[in-house]
Amino acid sequence: MKKDLLTINDLSANEINEIFKLAGELKEKRQGFGEPLKGKTLGLIFEKPSNRTRVSFEVGITELGGHAIYLGSYEIDLGKRESPKDVAKVLSRYLNGIIARTFSHKTVVELAKYSSIPVINGLTDYQHPCQALSDLFTIKEKKGLEGITVAFIGDGNNVLNSLLYICHKMGIKINAACPKGYEPDKDVLKDVAGTAKIFNVPSDAVKGADVIYTDVWTSMGQEKEYRKRLKVFKKYQINSELVKFANKDAIVLHCLPAHRGQEITDDVMDGPQSMVLDQAENRLHVQKAILVKLLK
Ligand code: CP
Ligand code: NVA
Repeated sequence: MKKDLLTINDLSANEINEIFKLAGELKEKRQGFGEPLKGKTLGLIFEKPSNRTRVSFEVGITELGGHAIYLGSYEIDLGKRESPKDVAKVLSRYLNGIIARTFSHKTVVELAKYSSIPVINGLTDYQHPCQALSDLFTIKEKKGLEGITVAFIGDGNNVLNSLLYICHKMGIKINAACPKGYEPDKDVLKDVAGTAKIFNVPSDAVKGADVIYTDVWTSMGQEKEYRKRLKVFKKYQINSELVKFANKDAIVLHCLPAHRGQEITDDVMDGPQSMVLDQAENRLHVQKAILVKLLK
């Protein structure tokens, strides 16, 4: 039976560990792993812009011997030119897998429901599972996962929802500091009760943390709220003062793209504790592992 990756809950802790093990091997043998995707073609349906997700998937598919077709919003025009249901049924006759970045999470759920090939969520308004898997792989590489605390500062968005799920599944403590009214999804919070704590003051969340993580204040699709959010999130910035509250050897992560001077300052982003480039690189290795597992 085909397997999709729409949220972290599509994977067991065991499967996540298997992905990490394989990602480590793929990272070591970047070119010499063989071609498990030889003869396979994947479609990238993207309704929103992307640097990391698009490029790392395309490069990963090429390195594994497969072929990628990028289908931007003008090609498919999901829901306008054709329904997600019809798109999924037709593409299942051509492709071996779909990676989809959509505005609404419902759209990837529809695509997965009506396709006979694996569908991978490349970011929706609700979840970003490939990001969370790459983040935890990076944390494992840099700090190990034993007894660590992750602190997320900023918006209770797609990136945080997925990070909460993966930390819960892997038994990792996570503190999040969000302004009132901008907390993570209520159902996600119910699901992760026990591992996650929500704060309003950033320094409270960062105290004793081994990882400090942030993301943009305004996500794709929320552009109309940009000015309002600049005011609401002003105090939710990772700067050198905030970093001092964390453990001395804490690392700083950001899924990128960053708005320097907003959610993170230049000196922290470019400083010795920042692992953002390794984090971005790991998208490639982890997603290659996801592809090998789902398309085998
Ligand atoms: N982090 C991330 O998903 O980046 P892109 O939006 O550039 O793909
Ligand atoms: N929360 C951001 C993540 C970008 C990778 C967004 O959805 O725009």
